[in-house]
Amino acid sequence: MSFIDYYSSYNKMEGKKIDIFDTTLRDGEQVPGCKLRTEEKIIIAEALDEMGVDVIEAGFPISSPGDFRSVEQISALVKNATVCGLSRAVQKDIEVAGDAVKGARRPRIHTGIGTSDSHVLHKLRTTREDVIDRSIKAVKLAKRYAEDVEFYAEDAGRTENEYLSQVIEAVIKAGATVVNIPDTTGYCLPHEYGAKIKYLCDHVKGIENVTISTHCHNDLGMATANSIAGIENGAAQIECTINGIGERAGNTSLEEVVMIIKQRFGNQMYHNILTPKLKSMSEMVSDKMGMIVQPNKAIVGANAFAHSSGIHQDGVIKRRDTYEIMDPADVGVDKSSIILTARSGRAALAYRAKEIGINLTKEELDVVYQEFLLLADIKKEVNDEDLHRLMQKLPIGVA
Ligand code: KIV
Ligand code: ZN
Repeated sequence: MSFIDYYSSYNKMEGKKIDIFDTTLRDGEQVPGCKLRTEEKIIIAEALDEMGVDVIEAGFPISSPGDFRSVEQISALVKNATVCGLSRAVQKDIEVAGDAVKGARRPRIHTGIGTSDSHVLHKLRTTREDVIDRSIKAVKLAKRYAEDVEFYAEDAGRTENEYLSQVIEAVIKAGATVVNIPDTTGYCLPHEYGAKIKYLCDHVKGIENVTISTHCHNDLGMATANSIAGIENGAAQIECTINGIGERAGNTSLEEVVMIIKQRFGNQMYHNILTPKLKSMSEMVSDKMGMIVQPNKAIVGANAFAHSSGIHQDGVIKRRDTYEIMDPADVGVDKSSIILTARSGRAALAYRAKEIGINLTKEELDVVYQEFLLLADIKKEVNDEDLHRLMQKLPIGVA
C-alpha cells in the first residue's frame, strides 16, 4: 500500500488539503530547557514523518554547529516530509541553511524579516523600503539553493495590511513558494487574523499561486483559534508544535488543529496526520524535552478523556458521546477513564468495581457506596487497590 493510500484509507480526504508544518524542533526547541541532542532530534523527526506531517522545520542551521548537524542529518534521513531550515534574511544564514538541507528529498529554506513598524523602526532600525529590498534579495538568494522557498513576514500580526501586501507581493514575484504570516507576538484576535489572511488573498497579485501559511503564538491563548481562522480564510498550511511548545507561551498545538480539522471541518478540509499517533508523539516530545504536559491540555493531557463528576460519569457510562466529542482511540488514548472521587456517583463505583471483576447487587452497592464516600473524602482519588480493600472490609461476601 502506498503512503498516500495508507493515509487516505484512514483520513477522509475531502475538500482542501491543509499542510501540517511542524516546528517542534525549531520554535519548540528554542524554549529554555528544551534543547535536544542531534540523536534525540532525529528520533523525533522520524516519528513526525511516520505520523504524516508535511513539513519538518528541523532547526536554524546558522545558530550553532550542532543545529547545522541536526538539520543536515535529518535531511538525509527523512523519507516523506519536506525538511526545512530557518534563516534570517541575511546572506550567510541563507547559504548555511541551503547547505544544511541540500541532502533532503524535499528541501525548503525558510527565510524572512520583521515587517511591523515595531520591528522595522526599533529592531531593524531601518525603513519599510529597505525591508522590501532585503526580502526580495533573500528570496532570490534562497532560490539558488532550493526551489521551495518560504518567506516569513515576522510580526505580520501587527503589520499594517497594506504594507504587508506590498511585501508579500514582492516576495512572490521574487520566487517564494510559501508565504508565512506569523502572529509572532500572539496579539491578533481570531477575526482580525482571519481578516488579515482574507485581505492578502483579495489584494496580493499572484497569491493564488503560492501557499499561505499561519504561524500563531499563544501569548493570549488564541494560537489555535487564530490558525483555524487563517485556514477558514485562505491559508493552506498551519505551523505548529507538539504539545504547543514554543517561544514564551508557545505555538499553535499540532494535536489541537489536526483534531479540529478532523472533527469540525471533515467535509471541507483534510490533512495527512495519522491521529492515533498523537498521544505517543506527545509523550515522546514531553519525555525528551523534559516539558510536562498539563493534565487538562486538550487532546493529549492526562485528563482529556477522564471523567470525575457523578453527573458526567453517569452519562459517559450510558453512552460515551454524552460527554465526549472524540473517540479516545482516534488520538491514541486506550479508553476514557472513570476516576473515583468524592464527587463520583453509584454508577461510577459499580462500573469500576465491574472492571476489577466485582459485580455488585443494588443492595451491595448501597452499602459499599457509603464506605466509599468516607474514604473518598479522605483520599483525592480512590484507586483499584483501595476498591479491593474496601470490598474485603465489608461483610457482604463480594470480595
Ligand atoms: O514567530 C515567528 O515569527 C517565527 C518566525 C521565525 C517564523 O518563529
Ligand atoms: Zn514563532
